[in-house]
Amino acid sequence: MMSRRDWMWSAAGLSALPAARQAIAASGKNIVVSSGNGARACAKALESLKAGADTLDAVIAGVNINELDPEDTSVGYGGLPNEEGVVELDASVMHGPTRRCGAVASIRNIKTPSNVARLVMEQTDHVMLVGEGALRFAKTMGFKDENLLTEKGRLAWLVWKQSLRDASGHNNWTDGLDAPAKASARLKRLFPDVDDETLAWAWRVAVRPPTGTINCLALNSRGEMSGVTTTSGLAWKIPGRVGDSPIIGAGLYVDQDVGGAGSTGRGEENIRVSGSHTIVENMRHGMSPKEACLDALKRVALNYNNDRAKLMQFDLSFYALRKDGEYAGAALWNGPKFTVNDGAESRAEPCVHLMER
Ligand code: GLY
Repeated sequence: MMSRRDWMWSAAGLSALPAARQAIAASGKNIVVSSGNGARACAKALESLKAGADTLDAVIAGVNINELDPEDTSVGYGGLPNEEGVVELDASVMHGPTRRCGAVASIRNIKTPSNVARLVMEQTDHVMLVGEGALRFAKTMGFKDENLLTEKGRLAWLVWKQSLRDASGHNNWTDGLDAPAKASARLKRLFPDVDDETLAWAWRVAVRPPTGTINCLALNSRGEMSGVTTTSGLAWKIPGRVGDSPIIGAGLYVDQDVGGAGSTGRGEENIRVSGSHTIVENMRHGMSPKEACLDALKRVALNYNNDRAKLMQFDLSFYALRKDGEYAGAALWNGPKFTVNDGAESRAEPCVHLMER
């Protein structure tokens, strides 16, 4: 006879999951994995681990480099703004040894949201603070209230406004630019002091809004793990839009008995599959980091019935680090790389991919 438990599984259309595999042995090594933009972050985090730092201190010190870098337009200070020209940041942290986590979403005016997320974890009885409340909390904790929009970000925002068209091809912010082919000459007239490369970049990000982000995961020689994900999110978003980065289980998940996972790319798609939690659970049930990430990407593709034309319109990457030191980066489409540092220099490795362009 079917037990109530079996009935519940079959009623939900689920076959019983395989039993959790035997405990995963720790690697005994320091290793840091991050998204493709994390060469400096991984090097800093690894150096911190070698000096005996806590794994969360290490990854936050790593991503602070990107957050504070005005040239990194997808994270922290200098991130591309929302549709009103205001930079809004999302970040989350998870600390393996204490199994605690913290996050901030849609926070303005604070250069290093990962540090604020960590204080939400350590200094409050909550997990996530958003918007005005997150800013007030950060200021209470002594963070400086600063304008995060750089001149480069402002230029890109204005170019985006000029790239928009109503049904008749009109735009209030230009005097008639209606053909992307002529854009470069026209932009040069409008911004004579800006070099061609920056203008070409501004046009690219105007017509294809990026979702940059940095995720960084660390494992130390004692088998302790932590992770962080931090971002300025989707460029030109509606104010208040929150992506996957601050959502525990989507943009980041760590269970140091098993491993950690994080993501970059189009957050909306990741939220729908709780990607990072899915990956860690996949590893718990015996999948390799590579298999676990590809399985999560298959769920993303399935949400569009594997329709290539629709899936072509975005990308999403996952990163996974297992407690035994095995790791992977995986992307929906071929091309992206991820970063690893296990003691020497940070190196870029190609992500495995689900689909080929
Ligand atoms: N993955 C970053 C975002 O969608 O905001």
